[in-house]
Amino acid sequence: MTKTDVIKDLQVLYQNKPNRLNHVFGVRDTALELGRRHDADLDKLEWAALLHDITKYYPKKQNMQLIRSYFADAEDIIANYNEHILHAYSAVVVASREYGIADQDVLDAICHHTIGKPAMSIYEKIIFISDYIEPNRTYESCVKVRAIAFVDLDLAVYTAIDDSIRFYETTGGQVPKTAYLARDYYKPHGEDTA
Ligand SMILES: [Fe+2]
Ligand SMILES: [Fe+2]
Repeated sequence: MTKTDVIKDLQVLYQNKPNRLNHVFGVRDTALELGRRHDADLDKLEWAALLHDITKYYPKKQNMQLIRSYFADAEDIIANYNEHILHAYSAVVVASREYGIADQDVLDAICHHTIGKPAMSIYEKIIFISDYIEPNRTYESCVKVRAIAFVDLDLAVYTAIDDSIRFYETTGGQVPKTAYLARDYYKPHGEDTA
């Protein structure tokens, strides 16, 4: 499988969802830009970006089946994350089995693109942030984080997670524990005492 094959598959998969296709290309372009800025392997980033939302519109049941067939801690994943997050895990399974991705950097970057986690690799951070700031994202926090991302990637990660938590808390959404752990991890030192 080549990246051209993935793009062809995405074009079929999202033929009625042009915004999603544009989002995936936006994530790819942003990830490549950030990758150049931070001296990361662009090939890994491109694979992760193209595949990160490959299962976005799979029914929840199918996502759960894929997760159960691959992850030893599948029941914890399913119990802790809502269906908007599960696609990140099922995308790992599809990337591995259908596209032959064996590179753990790529698989991990796909896996953690929705909420992040503490101590992310450069690939996890770049895909997480690219998903948040790609050019089709227009809400206020995305514009703010976009301005930070090219200067201080960790601060961008912190700001994106902090804003997301606040948003979900005010709208009554479920915030997974991992999001709080990640926010604590990336909290700038001295913020409380400044
Ligand atoms: Fe996603
Ligand atoms: Fe995405």
